Amino acid sequence: MAGFSITKAAPNDLKKKPASGVELGFGRIFTDHLFLMEYDQGQGWHHPRIEPYRPLSLDPAALVLHYGQEVFEGLKAYRWPNDEIYLFRPRMNYERLNRSAKRLCMPELDVELALEATCQLIRLEKDWVPAAPGTSLYIRPNMIATEAALGVQISKKYLFYIMLGPVGAYYPQGFNPVNIFVTEKYIRAARGGLGEAKTLANYAASLLAQEEAHEQGYTQVLWLDAIERKYAEEVGTSNIFFYLGEELVTPPLSGTILPGVTRDSVLHIARHWGLKVSERMIGLDEVISALESGKLKEVFATGTAAVISPVGKLAHHEKIFLINGGQVGELSKKLYDHIVGIQYGKIKDPYGWVERVA
Ligand SMILES: Cc1ncc(COP(=O)(O)O)c(C=O)c1O
Repeated sequence: MAGFSITKAAPNDLKKKPASGVELGFGRIFTDHLFLMEYDQGQGWHHPRIEPYRPLSLDPAALVLHYGQEVFEGLKAYRWPNDEIYLFRPRMNYERLNRSAKRLCMPELDVELALEATCQLIRLEKDWVPAAPGTSLYIRPNMIATEAALGVQISKKYLFYIMLGPVGAYYPQGFNPVNIFVTEKYIRAARGGLGEAKTLANYAASLLAQEEAHEQGYTQVLWLDAIERKYAEEVGTSNIFFYLGEELVTPPLSGTILPGVTRDSVLHIARHWGLKVSERMIGLDEVISALESGKLKEVFATGTAAVISPVGKLAHHEKIFLINGGQVGELSKKLYDHIVGIQYGKIKDPYGWVERVA
């Protein structure tokens, strides 16, 4: 598929960019253009193009609206001190998108084409990439089933699009620990389900638990396994790590959790630093007894949004446990500084993870 057509927004239609210093928040501001392409069974992906940002037009019977055939991704572009713009391990996101698509019976994308589309769109929207510390341009690729049909079935038509928007620093007030609530009442995913796919149903399933945790003053929910409700799985929309004694533990990729890009990066870095790293099941009973014996040093979550999110407090069975005295741990801080340093070009990338866009 050669080249993309680009239709630029008329100068009068360009949006006003937020002034520097304005709190950008997350996911409320979108740039001036979208990348779009369609898929039809028998024809494959076609008509790749960049167009002015606009609402989508969908038949009310579009299958995505009824049976949830949708997959998406989330990654960021970072402005370096020299004004160049970089992505962090973007192929991993498009490879994960393809695995999610396969699980939802949706067509896969050519990873290189999707990456080229992302880069072209970012180049066009370069001035939207914010420069303030900790800010970035969020990239949201999305694939939806568009065939109009009300019987439960696999769609024969899809739309893939990429939208962009500047987002603020996750920690505008500094690197802070979060409080988490262990839920036994709700589950996020069971083996054989959709847990390892980045698809809308997983997020819909999480809302009520998240809401109840918020009502009780907690930031996030710690999800347990669906069968025994005993083993840690994920925290909110992040992966989870426990630093016990000399061992860094994270739950294994057994189908129920999202294989995070940040999770993979932390595992890689920790091994590179010579830490003992285990991808194994870890029960809440083990976590609590390690806490009580003083062996549990740190707990942190990992994800594109916050990179590392230290856990300060854990509520479980009516009890509240303080982790590392509610303070940010040494390893959490070191990992955060290392990854963020690489993403923003402040330290040299020894792993070949960053890719220049513009
Ligand atoms: C459910 C869930 N788990 C984990 C993650 C962390 O993944 P990543 O590090 O690729 O952002 C995310 C965010 O994408 C998520 O939505």
